[in-house]
Order: sequence, then structure tokens, then C-alpha cells
Amino acid sequence: MKPAALNATVLAALLSVSAPASATPSSGNTASCSGSKPTNGTTTAIPTPTATDPCVVARDTYFSQLSSSLGTMPTMDASTARQCLTSVRVHKEPAIRLLDGLKPFLEWQSDQVYLKDPPADYPYPPVDIFAELETIRSNLEADKYSSEVEWQEDLYWTIAGKPHNGHLAFHPDLLTMPFEWVRPWSLVSVSEDGTSLPVIKVLEDVLSPSEKSSHVVEINGIDAATFIEGRVAQSSNSQDPDAGYNAMFFSQANRAELKSVGYFEGGGRERFFYPGNVTSLTFANGTTVQKPNIARFHYGPYDWNNVRDAETMHKEFCRGAYTTSSGRSARNTNSNQLSAALNSIYNYPQPAASLSRRQEEEPMPIDGYPEPIVIDSYQAVSGYFIDEPGFEDVAVLVILSLDSSFNDFQTAVQDFFAAAVEAGKTKLVIDLQANGGGLILQGYDTFRQIFPDIIQDGPSRWRATSTFNAISQIFSPLCANYTPMVGYQELDNPCNTVNNWRNDLNDTNGRFTSYIDKFGPFTVNGDAYTNYMEWDPANPTLVRQNYETDVTGYGSRKNFTRPFGGPENIVLLYDGYCASTCSIFSQFMKHGAGVKSIAMGGRPREGLIQGVDGVKGSQVYPTRQMKNLADLALEYTEDEALIKELKRLDDTYVSSRSPYQLPVVNVRDAVLPSEIESGVPTQFITELADCRLYWTEAMIQSPEEIWKAAAQAAFKGGNCVAGGIAQPVKRPQYAASRLRGYRKHPRPASGGRVRPSNSLIMQQMRVKVSD
Ligand SMILES: *[C@@H]1O[C@H](CO)[C@@H](O)[C@H](O)[C@H]1NC(C)=O
Ligand SMILES: *[C@@H]1O[C@H](CO)[C@@H](O)[C@H](O)[C@H]1NC(C)=O
Ligand SMILES: *[C@@H]1O[C@H](CO)[C@@H](O)[C@H](O)[C@H]1NC(C)=O
Ligand SMILES: *[C@@H]1O[C@H](CO)[C@@H](O)[C@H](O)[C@H]1NC(C)=O
Ligand SMILES: *[C@@H]1O[C@H](CO)[C@@H](O)[C@H](O)[C@H]1NC(C)=O
Repeated sequence: MKPAALNATVLAALLSVSAPASATPSSGNTASCSGSKPTNGTTTAIPTPTATDPCVVARDTYFSQLSSSLGTMPTMDASTARQCLTSVRVHKEPAIRLLDGLKPFLEWQSDQVYLKDPPADYPYPPVDIFAELETIRSNLEADKYSSEVEWQEDLYWTIAGKPHNGHLAFHPDLLTMPFEWVRPWSLVSVSEDGTSLPVIKVLEDVLSPSEKSSHVVEINGIDAATFIEGRVAQSSNSQDPDAGYNAMFFSQANRAELKSVGYFEGGGRERFFYPGNVTSLTFANGTTVQKPNIARFHYGPYDWNNVRDAETMHKEFCRGAYTTSSGRSARNTNSNQLSAALNSIYNYPQPAASLSRRQEEEPMPIDGYPEPIVIDSYQAVSGYFIDEPGFEDVAVLVILSLDSSFNDFQTAVQDFFAAAVEAGKTKLVIDLQANGGGLILQGYDTFRQIFPDIIQDGPSRWRATSTFNAISQIFSPLCANYTPMVGYQELDNPCNTVNNWRNDLNDTNGRFTSYIDKFGPFTVNGDAYTNYMEWDPANPTLVRQNYETDVTGYGSRKNFTRPFGGPENIVLLYDGYCASTCSIFSQFMKHGAGVKSIAMGGRPREGLIQGVDGVKGSQVYPTRQMKNLADLALEYTEDEALIKELKRLDDTYVSSRSPYQLPVVNVRDAVLPSEIESGVPTQFITELADCRLYWTEAMIQSPEEIWKAAAQAAFKGGNCVAGGIAQPVKRPQYAASRLRGYRKHPRPASGGRVRPSNSLIMQQMRVKVSD
């Protein structure tokens, strides 16, 4: 098969890839609103060419482009859009109410004391989230902000920027609903020869090089790499600057999974940091080119027709600010309502078109990737053989995401391993570029399909907040006589949450013996936590009932054998983005099985870099999940003190001010088995990859070039630009017996999910980074 090479003719389409992605509204919140959707040209807006109010200019631009350019996102010059936002005056009381309302949810942020006082090798400055909120609050009190968007930018930076945590995000309404910012170029970072430090180039120059092409030496008059690093320090959702650096550039993986041609151009959290009116690039040949920055409109449940000036701009895009009463109706756990709300964050930012494509019967190859041997229906996992001399023994498993149908994903991995063994492949490259996580137990299952005989070790813990404890105090006694099984039981929801002490395994895979044994609280580094715990993959309610299959190694999927033998035949390939469930899977592969890793790219400086740089927290809750748990708990208590605690978890107002995505909080720390004593969360542990490689121009065009370089370095004695992977003295000779003991197993009975994926139980098992 031939790699689908990228060429200049597809550039236009390619550069617009982020447009639909960034414009899908959080659909769960849209149901009752009349959206201003793009139409085929029948919109009847009256352009007002004489308008001078910048928000009116924006409105007219929106409608005139809707009617003239079908299917593409309206855009305008960034400077006028920004003027519109800054023309909106501060609405102080609702702003202060929001800051106060966020506190009960941020209390759950599990690593906050480490963020406040990080280990010496943590690359970013300390952040005290609560102190920062207090500063914004007092600035508001003292009328220090001259516009609504200014305090919203401070809040966004405090929550979504400074902590560099992909599981922690709040998207203020005025800042994030109408527009996102776009720079007029997509960039790449490549090494000219594969060994010299990478330089920055404009993507077009790589796709269609000419004699005159030159690399970028300055951006806005600042050294180009320094400029990019500055942006990363402000907006990256990764805990390591090398990963943040990589995400600013084009790669096939970023385009396929992050729906971005590099965050420098647009996307990620960078999209809401105002880039200024213009961007200028200075090239090594002395040429400087300056272009205006762009504001890209969002589609959403908003109607620009209602915008007549700055005040109506606020009314339209900050609707939540105008609600006064709590949305909590008496003990409302109506399941439709739960679903609608929980859905939204994960539906965003999938464009509708890509979702429908993913549901087609015949899965399509991934754009920019070769023809796969196996691919699942969501294009989350796919397998490839490298059809070139010298690589006949190598199989490549690409896991762009762990968010798929559990059953389909498991089947695809199993089918690919069987095909690879059958075809005599003895080496496996696992490409985890751009992987932001997904279903937690999919990470467990994939590990156990590769190493069925190694029991994963993934200790984790929660912050013992007063609201967390209140839920535990109600759920735990309720579940005294509950036994998980396949088939519905009334108490499935409360009893399969962390808040039932009988649920989960302890750190040595035994059962907790009491409420105190699990919930403590235990003091570590001056903060209060639960005991260490692990998921129980044998729990039939969590797994069999939901996924109609078992995690490999459990139930019907015992007795599997290794498809590729030992860790020396496998290598993990990263671009640093790996986060969330990807970090859980990676921990098992590295610490559990001893598999080596390769990290690509990074900042232009010598030395080894990390591979797993995304958030390493092991669970994220939308604030709505906390509210739903609290609502459920309220059904089972009359205790006034507990009721008072639980009522603090009403996120109605807080979420209404973040309609772009529901706010999310990292609620669970992963702790390496070797750090149980110290208690330092994995998020704050530096873990260098074994080998570093730079991207080359050929690799930008084709992922297959990256796989070949990785296989070379991992299995064939190839060099790394830093570090290296030693070859085993004697490789086990597999070739003699083609199937070498790998037993084929029946595929899991295909079923699909029994429970809706957004139900309370399912929600807790999905752990994905928010970009
Ligand atoms: C455009 O939309 C109008 C109103 O929905 C419809 O009547 C018309 O047929 C559409 N035209 C095209 C070309 O799809
Ligand atoms: C940006 O553009 C706006 C509107 O065109 C203008 O008022 C402002 O002065 C510009 N800012 C800079 C730094 O040039
Ligand atoms: C300098 O390099 C840039 C970027 O490749 C190119 O667009 C420009 O034409 C070059 N200028 C000259 C004078 O060769
Ligand atoms: C886990 O539970 C088992 C059985 O209750 C117990 O023997 C073991 O000591 C516990 N391990 C820890 C670390 O608490
Ligand atoms: C696994 O192997 C054991 C021993 O051969 C056997 O008793 C058991 O039934 C097997 N389990 C499964 C799920 O195949």
C-alpha cells in the first residue's frame, strides 16, 4: 500500500480541517435553542455597511459570509472581533457569583497542593488556583477590569492555562462562544538532515519547496522558537513544554486526531489567547511577511440577529449571567437531563460530518495514513504492515484515541495481532501520537492483550473533600447488601462509584475492609486523600454489562498468550501529547512490562525528552458529573448537614457560564507503584523516553516514515539523536514457528453498549483530555 502522500493540491482542504471542528456547539446544551446554523444561502440578514459598532460589524460579516460561502466557517479580521469583545462592559455581580460558584468543584482538583509547590524539576511556575481566583475577584471588586472579556481571559488563563492540566478547564462564555483566534500560517518543526536541531518552516514550503524557500527565524520580531515556547508556557494543556511545542506544529497525527494543523495556526487552548492584530514571520533569507490575524466564528445555539450593540452582545453570548435561580429542581435525577448535559463536552469538538462518517459500516482509512490492515469504526485504532525491504518483520498499531466502542476496539486489536502473527511479524511499534485518552478499561484491555500474564498495577487516589466524603457517607451504607452482576439492579449507579467503599480494589488487588480503610482520610504532603485504590476489571456491572465483553485476563478472556513475546520486541512511539487513559496504558507498558519508548520532536535543544507529557491524572469529572452524584445522594438522605454539603455541588450556574464545553476537573491522581511512599502524583514525575528522534520533512508527509525511523532505532540498532535502545544480546527466534504459541481466541460477541455512554456509571470510565 502507498502512503497517502500530502501534496500542495490538498493543502487548502487540509488547512481548513480545524474549521468545522472548532465550530460545533456543545450539542447537549443546544436542544432548546434556535441555532444560527449555516444555510444554503437563504438567510435574510440585512448587511449594514455603515455600521461602526464593532459587534454590529461582526454580525453583518457573519451573515454576509454565511450567504456567500456555503459550508465554510465565517471569518473576519481579528482586530475588529477583538474590539467587539472589549467593547462589552464588565458585568460585575454575575462575574463574582461565578468565581464563588467554582470553588466547590475546584476543591476536587486532586493535585492542587503539588501545583502550588511543585517538585524542583517541574518545568512550569507554581500555581495557587484559589489565590489566583481571589486576585481576579478583588480586581473585579476594585473595578480594575475595563471590559468583560478581560476578567474572562484572566480566569481562562488561571484554570485552563497556568496549571497545564488537560483535565482542568473552564471556558468563559464571552471569550469562547462567538469566535476563536487563528494565525494566518501553519508551521512545522523539522530537522533538515534528521540529526541537526529542528528549524521552523511554513507548511507550504515543506509541501512544495522551491529554490527560494527559507526557514522562519523570527515571529513578531522575536526568535521563532522562543516565541513558540512563550505561547506554550501560556496556553499548553500538557505538563511538559516539549509536548506543548510539538502541538503548535502540523503533523499528520495532530491533523487526524486534534483536528488541528498545529495550534500556532489554531486550535487547542491557544485559540482563546488573543494573538494580536497581526503576525509577522521573518525568514532566514531576510524576507519579512506580515498578515492580519483572523477571528473564526463559531456555530452555536446563538443568534447574531439579536446583537445590536455591546450590551446585546453580552445578553446573547452570556445568557447564563441572566439566570438568577438555581436550576436544581427538587431532587431531580431525571435521566434524560443527565444524558443531555454529560454528552456535550465529549461531543465537542467533533464535527457532525466526522461523527457520521465514523458510524459507517466500512471504516475509512485515516486521512494522511496508509491503507490499514485493520481499523475500528471510530478510526481510533488501526494496524499497518510496513511494505518495504528491511521492515518485513514490523507491525504498527496506531492508537489515535482510546475513545471508541469498547467491543469494536478490542476486536480490532485482537484481529490485528492475529493477522500480524499469522504474517510472521515479530516486532510491534505502538504509535500513540496525539492520543488524548478515552475509555479507562480500554487502556487496561490493550495492555493485557499484549501482556496477558502481567497484572496491571495502577494505584490512584482522590482528594478527600467535604463533598466527596458526604457522597461516600450516603452511598456506602446504601450498598451493604449490593453485589455487582450482569443485569440491572436499582443500586447499580451509587454502588459502582468510588464512593461505595466496597467497590474498587486496594493497592494490592485485595478488598478494602472498611469505610475507613478506603476513605481514611490519609494525610500526604499536608493534604487529605483517600487510600490508594485500583479499578476492578472483574466487576461484571462495570464491564460485562456495559461492554458485552470482558477485559482481557478476566472472565471469558483468560488464558490469552503474548502475540509479540517480551518487551524487547515492542516500542512505544510518542509526540508528547499522550494524556489521560494514554498515560495509564503507558504506565503499564513501561513500569509493568519494561517496554522502551521513543519521543519525537521537542524544543530545539539537545538531550532526552519525555514521551508522556499530557495530563497523567487518572480521572476527570465534568462539574455536571459531581452535580449528578450529589443529586443521586440527595435522594437517599434526610441528614441536614449532608444535604447542605451536597447542595454546594449545584453546577447549574457555573456550567451555564461555560457553554462551549462543560467545566472539567482532574479528580484522581495516578501515583506510580514506586512512589506510593512519597505520594508524589505521576503528573509531577519526570519520565524521560529512552530515545529521541527529530521529525524530518518526509515524516511530515507520511507517518510511515516515522514508523520506519522508530523501528530502526528500536529493533535494528539505529541511532537516536539522544539516548538509544540497546539491542538484546540474543533475540528469541520466533521465525521457526509462525504462530509461536500465540493462540487465537474467538472474537468477543459483538454487542455495543447496553448502557448509554453518558450514564452516570459510563461517564466515570471515560477519561479524556480537554483541549
Ligand atoms: C435552500 O434552502 C431552501 C429553504 O430551506 C430550500 O427551499 C431550497 O431548496 C434550498 N436550495 C438548495 C439548492 O438546496
Ligand atoms: C488593532 O486593531 C484595532 C482596530 O483595527 C486598533 O484600534 C488597534 O490600535 C490595533 N492595535 C495595534 C497594537 O495595532
Ligand atoms: C524567503 O523565504 C520565504 C519563505 O520560504 C519565501 O517565501 C520568500 O520568497 C524568500 N524570499 C526571497 C527574497 O527569496
Ligand atoms: C488489601 O486487601 C487485602 C485483603 O483485604 C489485605 O490483606 C491487604 O493487606 C490490603 N493491602 C493494602 C495495601 O492495604
Ligand atoms: C483457562 O485455562 C484453564 C486451565 O486450562 C481452564 O480450566 C479454563 O477453563 C480456561 N478459561 C477460559 C476462559 O478459557
